[in-house]
Amino acid sequence: MAPTHETGQTAGRKVRVRVLRQSDPHGGSHWQTFEVPYEDGMNMTTVLQRIAAQPVTVEREKTTPVAYDACCLEEVCGACTMVINNRVRQACSALVDALLADGSDVIEVRPMTKFQVVRDLLVDRRPMFESLKRVKGWIRVDGYHEQGSGPRVTPQEQEEAYPLSRCMTCGCCVEACPQFNDRSPFIGAAAISQAILFNAHPTGRVERDARLAVLAGVGGIADCGNSQNCVKVCPKEIPLTDSLAKAGRDATLYKLRQWFGR
Ligand code: SF4
Ligand code: SF4
Ligand code: FES
Repeated sequence: MAPTHETGQTAGRKVRVRVLRQSDPHGGSHWQTFEVPYEDGMNMTTVLQRIAAQPVTVEREKTTPVAYDACCLEEVCGACTMVINNRVRQACSALVDALLADGSDVIEVRPMTKFQVVRDLLVDRRPMFESLKRVKGWIRVDGYHEQGSGPRVTPQEQEEAYPLSRCMTCGCCVEACPQFNDRSPFIGAAAISQAILFNAHPTGRVERDARLAVLAGVGGIADCGNSQNCVKVCPKEIPLTDSLAKAGRDATLYKLRQWFGR
């Protein structure tokens, strides 16, 4: 079918979407199906916007707009992470054409399962931010006044740090992780990788032992089962396997230093 020039819509073609809905954190969930006009190059955030503009199910039942989170719309903030066709990913970079490329005629969308649902596809990712707080996922500064140039970072150090710095705390890695759940204190691959990133920084290194104590403690690297699901789903292709291996080595050396009082 030929696209219309003004809207990019292909005349008459519809996109069918099944959405798992939940009205509040403690309520039950149920599926609703919607159809929206197809547009060239549309992604799942566009689909959710179209549903919000006209929240009517395929059974012609009027309903509320589907709640979801979004901010950057360019796979940088991680806010729109959800499970689409059984794979955790960002709605803003999930293209409808690719999702239907296998010939299926419906796209299925549900919230991540490792976080409490706030409403519909909107989840509370606070456990990830709490893990970041535990590993001090930041560089402490003495003040915001002019302090001159910082310590030199070699090009090789920059090359090693840059991939880790791309983490957007989206939650894909913990969604796929069999060890991360509400019954486990495991902090997850993202926080572990950030501990490695900030421990490698010349200024961040000042708090290295505090981070290593978390990695070596309850919920730390020993809880990782090494299934490597996390690295397979990370949208930023962060070398999580390398971070986890380094965290294991560093935590062991830290414990040895503690035992021998050094
Ligand atoms: S490590 Fe990758 S999957 Fe995990 S939160 Fe960061 S960007 Fe997302
Ligand atoms: S390798 Fe570790 S952190 Fe990654 S998914 Fe497996 S258990 Fe989770
Ligand atoms: S809106 Fe930021 S990653 Fe999708």
